[in-house]
Amino acid sequence: MFPDATLAVTSAVGDAYRPADRGKHRNRHQLLTPGTAGRRGYRGGPSVKPILQLKGVGKTYRRGDERVDVLVDFDFTLDAGEFVVVTGPSGAGKSTLLHIAGGLDAPDSGTVAVAGQDVWSMSGGARAAFRRRNLGFVFQFFNLVPMLTAVENVSLPLVLDGMPARSADARAEELLERVGLGDRARHRPAELSGGQMQRVAVARALVARPSIILADEPTGNLDSHSSTEVLDLLRSLSDEDGAAVVMVTHDEAAARYGSRELHLVDGRASAIDAAPIGKP
Ligand SMILES: Nc1ncnc2c1ncn2[C@@H]1O[C@H](COP(=O)(O)OP(=O)(O)OP(=O)(O)O)[C@@H](O)[C@H]1O
Ligand SMILES: [Mg+2]
Repeated sequence: MFPDATLAVTSAVGDAYRPADRGKHRNRHQLLTPGTAGRRGYRGGPSVKPILQLKGVGKTYRRGDERVDVLVDFDFTLDAGEFVVVTGPSGAGKSTLLHIAGGLDAPDSGTVAVAGQDVWSMSGGARAAFRRRNLGFVFQFFNLVPMLTAVENVSLPLVLDGMPARSADARAEELLERVGLGDRARHRPAELSGGQMQRVAVARALVARPSIILADEPTGNLDSHSSTEVLDLLRSLSDEDGAAVVMVTHDEAAARYGSRELHLVDGRASAIDAAPIGKP
């Protein structure tokens, strides 16, 4: 579906998550600047610049005479290191929002900036390369390449970006270890369970050390045990690497992993909870 296969996720069962801890891990993606002190919902300190900014984004689908306004004059800001959960009824525009934010689907109006760069003013080729370096994706149906082994799936974004196969494989193997699949590196997706496939996808999402991970119902196809494993990984690995996460979910347990919730109804943000929704 998405030919450059920049998609993915992670795990490591740890102790109870404390949303207030998010943002304390600074990495090379966190751009320090004064001026965002006290921004609503941000829990990581006064000096973190937005890593993703949507301004006045509009998206309408037309089929024949029918017109669906999926996103309407939509504004959204994500700070470096944040974990935001997107909820809302089916058809509200959650996937569309992720695709537009991730440079996969073009908005009709408005701007999308990732790390200060306008994603939709780039050429298609430049945008694909930018996506591979700055964004990691995780999808409900994993989107692994069936013919490739786990390690080849994870290293693919690096190889596509020109990294020599040996270095790319070494980095991919490190990620597979971190998601607990070091012993499954040579398996193909069909030889893995659903939870394992999604852990491979998490590893792939993180392999290029992106500043943002976009996850669309990453647990939508998993049992509760595998869901917990994948969510713990997503949270802990993104936290260690300082990546911000935007995760769409219909699952209440998954929604508690976020430190902020964006609720969408009819293409508009009907509520953005400033309070962390993760229970201590
Ligand atoms: N390519 C398309 N052509 C026409 N309409 C589309 C297209 N993609 C999405 N839509 C419509 O846009 C609206 C929003 O779709 P979207 O997939 O973003 O919803 P969602 O919130 O992710 O829903 P779900 O929770 O079911 O995944 C829906 O009404 C859908 O039918
Ligand atoms: Mg969707």
